[in-house]
Amino acid sequence: MAITISNLSKTYSNGYQALKNISFDIADGDLVCLLGPSGCGKSTTLNIIAGLLDPTSGDIGIDGHSIIHEHPKDRNIGMVFQDYALYPHMTVLENVEFPLRVGDHRKPKAEAERIAHRYMAMTGIEEMADKKPGAMSGGQQQRVAIARALVGDPKVLLLDEPLSNLDARLRLRIREEIRRLVKSTGITTVFVTHDQEEALSISDRIALMNQGVIQQYDVPQQLYLNPANLFVAKFLGSPIINLFDLAYDQSRKALTGPTFDIPLDRLDRGRMRDGLARALASGKVIAGIRPEHFLVADAGRTPDFTVTIDSVEMIGRYSVLHFDADGVHAASTVDARSPIRDGDRVGYVIDYGDIFLFDEQGTRLY
Ligand SMILES: Nc1ncnc2c1ncn2[C@@H]1O[C@H](COP(=O)(O)OP(=O)(O)OP(=O)(O)O)[C@@H](O)[C@H]1O
Ligand SMILES: [Mg+2]
Repeated sequence: MAITISNLSKTYSNGYQALKNISFDIADGDLVCLLGPSGCGKSTTLNIIAGLLDPTSGDIGIDGHSIIHEHPKDRNIGMVFQDYALYPHMTVLENVEFPLRVGDHRKPKAEAERIAHRYMAMTGIEEMADKKPGAMSGGQQQRVAIARALVGDPKVLLLDEPLSNLDARLRLRIREEIRRLVKSTGITTVFVTHDQEEALSISDRIALMNQGVIQQYDVPQQLYLNPANLFVAKFLGSPIINLFDLAYDQSRKALTGPTFDIPLDRLDRGRMRDGLARALASGKVIAGIRPEHFLVADAGRTPDFTVTIDSVEMIGRYSVLHFDADGVHAASTVDARSPIRDGDRVGYVIDYGDIFLFDEQGTRLY
């Protein structure tokens, strides 16, 4: 089912405006992540879709038909909460079949059990049918919650930070299982997380939110490679993007900083946006350079700048070189086999074509 979210706003009774006119469309069968820092409005959005919360204004459509006035139980939406919310006194089987045993459309016991077993098999918890949630690991409880959300054959699946209680390894495994499940059932899914890596790895599209506003809604690759603004550029990427306040030197036609300059003729004209000329005239521009775009200069190549490495941080697949660019902390990434050590002098070449420029309000200029 396709979901259309139109001009949704939410002001809580204390006057706090948690959502400011957000709109986005989710295609049938897509897995979309709502990503953003704590308090940005992710759960508010999810709860409004589920019908657990009324919006102040705006509309939600499923396959072109508004559900905003429908009762939660008539919306045919499966939801998994952050804390699983399993019934502790019931067994796994009883938990999973519960939605089929209550309400107007309750099914006979045998049929409910048969359906519950199908979803327990799908989520790999069938052998635990008689266990109580208290005797299960977080990951197992998680799968019970997912089976329970799916058992009513919902049109839409909503998951609110479903993996936050799990250890790193289990998170990785369960998120892949969720992705596989969503794709095999074709169920349209909205997944809330504040973990950028989780969002990048499982989403068809990501809605990156901040302070009740969608900053960018796009495929994961575009958010990383083509951020809409400074907030998006800063939110995605690890290590975090390097930022430098540069001045514009009209006579040299270059953005100048204490450590390195960016001559305008090194930039790709096609990537320059309308506001760039205005920002240059104001004299100030913020440059964003991802750690992978500071390249260690090969022997024989003239570096754009040379610095002393403060520390080398081994991550595994790569290492992070930390250095000081005249008072600004900066980082670059290098292959894990790099011989560079603390205190070494390193010459860098800047990959100018891949840098970003922003004005002081964070609007993308390049
Ligand atoms: N019932 C409420 N009354 C007033 N303000 C609220 C209420 N519920 C949430 N808020 C505020 O609305 C904002 C958005 O809350 P929401 O729960 O949607 O954030 P979130 O993005 O899910 O954050 P987190 O990642 O911490 O779960 C927050 O600033 C929160 O304090
Ligand atoms: Mg939340």
